[in-house]
Amino acid sequence: MTTETKRQDGSGAATSQDSLSVVDNRTGKQYEIPIEDGTIRAMELRNIKVDDEDFGLMSYDPAFLNTAACRSAITFIDGDKGVLEYRGHPIEQLAEKSSYLEVAYLLIHGELPTQDELAQWRHMITIHTFVHENIKEFMQGFRYDAHPMGMLLASVGALSTFYPEAAAIKDTETRYLQVIRLIAKMPTLAAFSFRHNQGKPYVYPDNDLSYPANFLSMIYKMTELKYEPDPRLEHALDVLFILHADHEQNCSTSAVRGVGSSQVDPYSAVAAGVAALYGPLHGGANEAVLRMLRRIEKTENVPDFIEGVKAGKERLMGFGHRVYKNFDPRAKIIKAACDEVFEVTGKNPLLDIATELEKIALEDDYFISRKLYPNVDFYSGMIYEALGMPVEMFPVLFAIGRTSGWIAQWREMIDDEEQKIARPRQIYTGPRGLDYVPMHERG
Ligand code: CMC
Repeated sequence: MTTETKRQDGSGAATSQDSLSVVDNRTGKQYEIPIEDGTIRAMELRNIKVDDEDFGLMSYDPAFLNTAACRSAITFIDGDKGVLEYRGHPIEQLAEKSSYLEVAYLLIHGELPTQDELAQWRHMITIHTFVHENIKEFMQGFRYDAHPMGMLLASVGALSTFYPEAAAIKDTETRYLQVIRLIAKMPTLAAFSFRHNQGKPYVYPDNDLSYPANFLSMIYKMTELKYEPDPRLEHALDVLFILHADHEQNCSTSAVRGVGSSQVDPYSAVAAGVAALYGPLHGGANEAVLRMLRRIEKTENVPDFIEGVKAGKERLMGFGHRVYKNFDPRAKIIKAACDEVFEVTGKNPLLDIATELEKIALEDDYFISRKLYPNVDFYSGMIYEALGMPVEMFPVLFAIGRTSGWIAQWREMIDDEEQKIARPRQIYTGPRGLDYVPMHERG
């Protein structure tokens, strides 16, 4: 609670150590604002007023660069040290030892499952992979070359019309069923979108296969009776899903929380997340990396390209991050996964250019002084391409992995008693009180 003390001789009243002393120079009043968890509550600022009529002070933070909008126990990031943990577990260990479905369980439930819990979880996800036949039919109504991400966005939102009971978001049992359905059906919707875009028949889920293998089957199966992916590709895809599963309050997760705060059903909230991920600044950087590598063409051209970046003519795509000021831990893991995939598919010729770029950039003072390191997107595009995915599928693959994070964050928000409908404030900059002018008098 803010306390107000009259400032005397600039000294103020006795202050607590865990507080911020603020002097409003408009009035000369001093305020003590408690500091908790390294933050002050923005609402405390409202007590700072010029007079009783005053609305009170607000903070202005476009793009929420320095505003914590929630308390969360799901994902921890230390950008300076390059640390990423899901529910306290380092991403490196999860990528090496776990599976995507186990990680999804961890994100949703908060703890790693026992063997029985994992078996039950896998079973539940597996038996919910099919979608209603009407969904298939309405997807067939999209234009022949529709972007798969646009199709995914529409079809996830449409699930709410198939499961109207999902509106009961406070009913824990009903809510849990929607969590299962979302994680289970996302790959099916994604694969149907891909097949539609390719003009190929949709492939139904194969419930004998693992989560990533079933996805690959729905993507690639043609006339064979059973599709069996190379286990190395299956594993690499699973690792990619793990790496993308959550990344705390990024743009799409904030969209899911923001839209979900209206208490809409989770399908509609997750559709908002897919929409946010559709944007090139969020889900599209790996495509930009591939375009850049193709433009560089060969390793001999790397030094010239780097000079162009340093002169401000170019951006080194796949480098730098708003949060990580050190190696993005996901980039290291993806680099290792590249080797596994290229063993099967043959090396992507762009890898040599990427490796040379990384080597030179990591030794160059321009990048060192700005703390620019490879991010998750520097290598992910090359793996997706090696897996035979067109660039339109890159954000779709991201969305499959991120679904468990979105839905874990959505559940946490619904149960958080401090949360209300998201409703930011504004600084109004337009005119006021204008009179309506009849059309014939407007000049
Ligand atoms: N290449 C060259 N210079 C760069 C780069 C880059 N990729 N990124 C930042 N800089 C420079 C920037 O010009 C600035 O230099 P100066 O101080 O001389 O003006 C300095 O580094 C600080 O950059 P910034 O723009 O303030 O950093 P930011 O936190 O606003 O931007 C970023 C982060 C990711 C948008 C940016 O690094 C970037 O555009 N990277 C390339 C695109 C990319 O790879 N995006 C994927 C991000 S990871 C996806 C995910 O986690 O979801």
